[in-house]
Amino acid sequence: MSNLAIIGTGYVGLTTGAVMAHLGHQVTCADLDPAKVEKLNQAELHIYEPGLRELVVAGLASGRLRFVVGAAEAAEACEFAFLCVQTPQGADGEADLTWVLAAAAELGHIVPPGTVVINKSTVPVGSAARVAAALARPDVTVASNPEFLREGTALADCLNPDRIVVGAPDVAAAQAVAALYDGITAPVVITDVTSAEMIKYASNAFLAVKLSYVNEIAALCERVGADALDVVQGMGFDQRIGKDALKPGPGWGGSCLPKDTAALAHMAATAGAPAGVLQAAMHANNEQRRRVVAKVTAAVPNGLHGARVAVWGLTFKANTDDLRDSPSLAVIQVLQQLGATVVAHDPQVEAAPLEGLLLASEPLLACEQADVLVVLTEWPQFAAIDLAEAAARMTGREIVDARNLLDRSAAVAAGFHYVGLGR
Ligand SMILES: NC(=O)c1ccc[n+]([C@@H]2O[C@H](COP(=O)([O-])OP(=O)(O)OC[C@H]3O[C@@H](n4cnc5c(N)ncnc54)[C@H](O)[C@@H]3O)[C@@H](O)[C@H]2O)c1
Repeated sequence: MSNLAIIGTGYVGLTTGAVMAHLGHQVTCADLDPAKVEKLNQAELHIYEPGLRELVVAGLASGRLRFVVGAAEAAEACEFAFLCVQTPQGADGEADLTWVLAAAAELGHIVPPGTVVINKSTVPVGSAARVAAALARPDVTVASNPEFLREGTALADCLNPDRIVVGAPDVAAAQAVAALYDGITAPVVITDVTSAEMIKYASNAFLAVKLSYVNEIAALCERVGADALDVVQGMGFDQRIGKDALKPGPGWGGSCLPKDTAALAHMAATAGAPAGVLQAAMHANNEQRRRVVAKVTAAVPNGLHGARVAVWGLTFKANTDDLRDSPSLAVIQVLQQLGATVVAHDPQVEAAPLEGLLLASEPLLACEQADVLVVLTEWPQFAAIDLAEAAARMTGREIVDARNLLDRSAAVAAGFHYVGLGR
């Protein structure tokens, strides 16, 4: 078992730390935020991720998991240090490596000789060399071990990954990193660092392309009278296509797909390589958000100015509290600009993330006096709500279901005019 430092306790760092402690390693997780660290040491999590708290509780109780402030304190006795800090979108779509390089510089002063520093943050091709330069430690190896977890199922994804990818300058270092995952059954892909960095971007951007494609197919289904739900079901049985990431929705968002797709397009432009498919996927994604706004506009014949819109769902997907680049917020902002008053409910959001947005503590309370109900996040509990009760509270009888979540016949039976996507 190894001594690990995990730098950053967000969705990736915290999940990785808890899983590594569960696998038997001695894990010290560092963050910059003392309040976050104090709470984590009491097993109070600042993020919502099903099942994760239980694993943190077990890790703390076993003595194999602890939380400290600052990378230096975490890494003084480590054998492996994972960089799990944020890499947000910077200028021109390029990934901003400020946090990665700052953490690497901190580690350079402290890690023992022979440490392997592992990039788990999503970083563009060539970043390992920049991390090595920031570390300024020729005795330290820099490896890449990109993370593929999905928010909402982060723990399950880490315990049962589709694959483990490790890139390192030499096979022995890569195998040492891969061995940290002993106990987890998954194919291991060992490669050079550049290819490992590329695998992450190529995978995320492919999902974005797939989702944009499905959203365009849904728009076409509407025009020609096909039902997109039947169409994607029929497509998904084809093993070359697969069922995942094949549902029409209000556009892809979240903390990863938009920034990673933009970063890959930027990389392609810098390298002089074509990126027409990526550009088209990004364009289609903006169009998809506009398409949802157009459906809401069409549902309120007197215009959105002065209308009251009930929204179910703010997070970028169900089972997370993450609002970063949420399509729901993008749609709401436009509805507000068009003069609507928006009242929203989300099970994981307690403070309004947008100015002027009203929050309701229950989904049905959001419906009071609303002209239209718009479903923007696929929280499963919304599908179980009595739509007759929603109708009784609303002024209008319109539903725009941008997730195809609700039961269309139940909505019609409750007196609604129901508009889904691609149907
Ligand atoms: N969130 C996802 O679903 C997901 C999935 C796969 C990969 N990734 C990638 O993983 C990386 C992390 O993503 P995230 O969503 O966990 O980010 P996050 O923003 O949730 O967490 C990052 C954490 O790092 C901390 N931090 C920053 N600099 C630090 C330093 N010098 N020392 C200690 N802590 C520091 C921050 O305070 C923050 O808590 C990103 O590159 C992201 O693209 C994210």
